[in-house]
Amino acid sequence: MINKKWIKAGYVTEPVPIGTDIKAEIRRMCKEKNAVIMAHYYTDGEIQDIADFVGDSLALAKQAAKTNADIIVMCGVHFMGETNKILCPNKKVLVPDFNATCSLAESCPAKEFGEFVKAHPGYTVISYVNTTAAIKALTDVVVTSGNAMQIVSSFPKDEKIIFGPDRNLGNYINSITGRSMVLWDGACHVHEKFSLERILELKAQHPNAKILVHPECKGPVVKVADKVGSTAALLKFSQEDDASEYIVATESGILHKMQQACPEKIFLPAPPDDSTCACNECNYMKLITMEKLYNCLKYEWPEIEVDKKVAEKAVKSINRMLELTPSSK
Ligand code: 13P
Ligand code: SF4
Repeated sequence: MINKKWIKAGYVTEPVPIGTDIKAEIRRMCKEKNAVIMAHYYTDGEIQDIADFVGDSLALAKQAAKTNADIIVMCGVHFMGETNKILCPNKKVLVPDFNATCSLAESCPAKEFGEFVKAHPGYTVISYVNTTAAIKALTDVVVTSGNAMQIVSSFPKDEKIIFGPDRNLGNYINSITGRSMVLWDGACHVHEKFSLERILELKAQHPNAKILVHPECKGPVVKVADKVGSTAALLKFSQEDDASEYIVATESGILHKMQQACPEKIFLPAPPDDSTCACNECNYMKLITMEKLYNCLKYEWPEIEVDKKVAEKAVKSINRMLELTPSSK
């Protein structure tokens, strides 16, 4: 039974029984319940290792759209669970800790964004996937960092576009495509913190290292990149490229997969501006632990619910993205 303490906490607070082989139990429950575990590259390495599927936001949405499982456990942040639920309304979608939100999604409240859209009649609304279901319902096409450039470029050059909520990604697309999309003023607290000065200091110590940058980073950091791309694109680049060292300016969880794929290469996490904190970690993603994953599967809670009317609108903007990028990485 779901109790009040759990509801208040946002996750199942019960300790895992002593002596439990937690990994074996998680896998056993997945089999028994026909559940699939999906994980984002920013979660802890052990979560990525136990998942059935690990990917960037785009790949996770695509995988959800085609899974045969009855239960999807989304090891990531709340909006990722919502996206899965919108795409699979008849499946049970679980996120092990409901406190795993996203500063970027939170920088775009639905009421204010709705007013912003109203103030720009005739504009096409393109929103980044890091948004709540309510924002997706106000959106014409959803994009991820993996397909944003491609989708924006598919519109005529003179199309009037609102792009939200990430100002850094929006500015990057504007600079590459020569467009002047109207931008919502939002950002991610992790990607905003990378320090150009400290990245250049690290580069001076490792002159052969290539700099990999997620487009949610600020403009000056993006400018020094050898490769700008989504988590999946950066991972792919690091596998195919011939350098032996990389400075990685995105959430440090991605280094787990990079290092697994290329054990002989050196991956250095790009430093944030505050050297005293682990600010290049997404504190929301790191809330997903093995214990919470175990309990979430055991009790099939916390479960994502999306208002039916909101979901009916939001699914159109997500499906439009999937139609426009059937094979993008
Ligand atoms: P990706 O779309 O590259 O997976 O990024 C998601 C995200 O949350 C970036 O901060
Ligand atoms: Fe959101 Fe930033 Fe965390 Fe990505 S890294 S989930 S954008 S808070």
